[in-house]
Amino acid sequence: MATHFINTIAAALTMACMGVAVPAAANTEVETAELLIKLLQVGRGVIPEHQATINDASKGDKGFTGDFLTAQVVERFRKATKIDLSRPSTVPQAPLFLAMVESEKEVIDEAQPVINKQGVGFKGIIPAVFARKSGERFYRKTGIRMKLTGIDYRYPGNRPDDFESEVLRIFSDTRHPKGQPYSKATMLDGKPVLRMMDPEYAATTCLGCHGNPKGERDITGAKQEGWHEGDLAGAISIVIPMR
Ligand code: HEC
Repeated sequence: MATHFINTIAAALTMACMGVAVPAAANTEVETAELLIKLLQVGRGVIPEHQATINDASKGDKGFTGDFLTAQVVERFRKATKIDLSRPSTVPQAPLFLAMVESEKEVIDEAQPVINKQGVGFKGIIPAVFARKSGERFYRKTGIRMKLTGIDYRYPGNRPDDFESEVLRIFSDTRHPKGQPYSKATMLDGKPVLRMMDPEYAATTCLGCHGNPKGERDITGAKQEGWHEGDLAGAISIVIPMR
């Protein structure tokens, strides 16, 4: 089995892009990568919908708990993928997916004192930070790396590595079909891995922080990047070790 897998990976090394026929074994990893990215995206998407409440200085208990988030994530993931994590016995990859949900829940549970603090407006609970912290927890649980990255990154830990820089360059090329992920079976630190990156683009909701005037400070105190709507914002990057 192990040898077979290595051969499969060797074959997969020649395939660069999604859409190209990939060997069956690598296919499973690609699907897992896509679904894990989806799980992180649906959780992250809950945050902006509650941003005004989270930032409400006049309110104490917001009811924005880890359990609330979990229910939202499971429901949105089911709608998007037809995979029902509330019935894990029906889902082959359930332990892995539930580890992601649990990571996201823990981030919101841990943030409760901050979220519920009266008298404070902006609290720094934002989608990108939520995604980063969830990714860090998920890595500790599973050994699967997941991060947000970008060419003009803010958080040092989000800095792209060589592979990520290369793929970000591909994404920023107008010839790359917008929104198409990039995946590759490759080696990292001498071990076979599947890497996938999913590009993200600036929406109008991002421009309050990442927009213009470039260099002017946003609500978080960081300098704005000068993005315009539709610009490549960055990517979610995932690294799945292969046996
Ligand atoms: C409230 C301000 C704010 C808004 C709105 C916002 N961001 Fe960010 N963004 C940040 C901050 C702060 C970070 C650094 C996060 C960290 O500490 O990990 C960041 C990080 C990122 C990163 C990771 C690379 C890096 O800079 O570290 C990407 C990609 C990103 N944002 C994209 C977006 C997109 C796309 C949107 C809109 C859908 C958006 N952001 C909306 C403040 C914001």
